[in-house]
Amino acid sequence: MKRILLIPGDGIGPEVMGHAKNLFCTIGRNRNLEFSITEADWGAERWLKEGVGIPKGELSLLPKKYDAILFGALGDPRIPDMAHGRAILLELRAGLDLYINLRPVKLLHNRLGVLKAADVLNIDMVIFRENTQDIYGGNGGFLHQNTPNEITIDESIHTHHGVKRIIHEAFKYAQKYQRKRVTLVDKSNAIKFGGSLWQRLFKEVSRKFPEIKADHLFVDVAAYYLVQNPARFDVIVTSNLFGDILSDLGAGIAGGLGLASSANINPEALALFEPVHGSAPDIAGKGIANPFAMFLSVAMMLDHLDYSSVAQEIRQAIVKAIENHQCTRDLGGQLNGAEAAQYIIEQFA
Ligand code: NAD
Ligand code: IPM
Ligand code: MN
Repeated sequence: MKRILLIPGDGIGPEVMGHAKNLFCTIGRNRNLEFSITEADWGAERWLKEGVGIPKGELSLLPKKYDAILFGALGDPRIPDMAHGRAILLELRAGLDLYINLRPVKLLHNRLGVLKAADVLNIDMVIFRENTQDIYGGNGGFLHQNTPNEITIDESIHTHHGVKRIIHEAFKYAQKYQRKRVTLVDKSNAIKFGGSLWQRLFKEVSRKFPEIKADHLFVDVAAYYLVQNPARFDVIVTSNLFGDILSDLGAGIAGGLGLASSANINPEALALFEPVHGSAPDIAGKGIANPFAMFLSVAMMLDHLDYSSVAQEIRQAIVKAIENHQCTRDLGGQLNGAEAAQYIIEQFA
């Protein structure tokens, strides 16, 4: 029995989570897996009503109570500074020390390629995004706020421990999955201190993996090559903010945000799985959100829980859906979100 905490969140989060619940029911029943599902109402509504993000004391209980967390999305136009996003999602990532944000970029079908050279064989990489540090810590402040002399500071933190462990995990992953190259992406030509630390630790860790090619790109040219020559990438390791940006770019060259999944992992702790996309207020409530990014995140979760054959079935069903145009409009189909989800669920009948 696996105990799963669902956090649907805002916008299309609850829509795609609803489809994931149906998927759980079916694979539980038809593949003989047992899930105990709990749902948390952490999101914009509760934040606006009660000012509560993660209820007090709950964070430290999560590892005892659950085997995995599945997250929808946060984001609500009524909270423009995303305060609740920091209090919930960033708090879960940092508070549970989920230092690996693993974001695959894989083109599942040539029909979805937007680049001239796009081919399922040459867009297949994994981004290792550091997930607990950088500019995300909320350190900094205002001076002379709301005056013409205003000064703002957002501190970007990079520790030896934090940088070394994500680089090490990227190489370990490359070794385990026979990936040939790990590319460090940074901005060490402009970011003096943190850039130097990433450079030094990348060299140090890469020496322990002589069979894996280690190379480096500045983030600006990495963005260029992702479009111009995506085949050069295998495993990318990068800091929190660059990883955020590059993973949306990665989604853009691999079928779109409707297909981009992610895992927030600490190998010794509880992990959290979520689509890369946000709450998509422009389409929320219309029933047209693509559930596949969520389903692929469920597949990553099932891999993590050692249910790899069912995870593989989900991936195959999604490729089949794309091949047969049984998908939502963002993937060139005609279905709404529920119909696309149902097509996948039926493959488990
Ligand atoms: P977004 O990812 O929500 O949407 C970007 C574009 O992709 C939109 O046009 C949207 O309609 C489309 N899209 C996204 N998911 C889709 C899906 N499943 N099916 C079809 N189309 C899809 O990014 P945004 O508009 O910049 O952000 C909206 C809100 O979400 C903001 O408040 C932002 O802070 C938040 N956000 C949250 C997360 C998260 O919870 N992990 C991630 C990104 C953005
Ligand atoms: C993501 C999101 C978040 C991030 C936001 C909502 C804080 O964009 O998960 O990619 O920047 O990590
Ligand atoms: Mn993002």
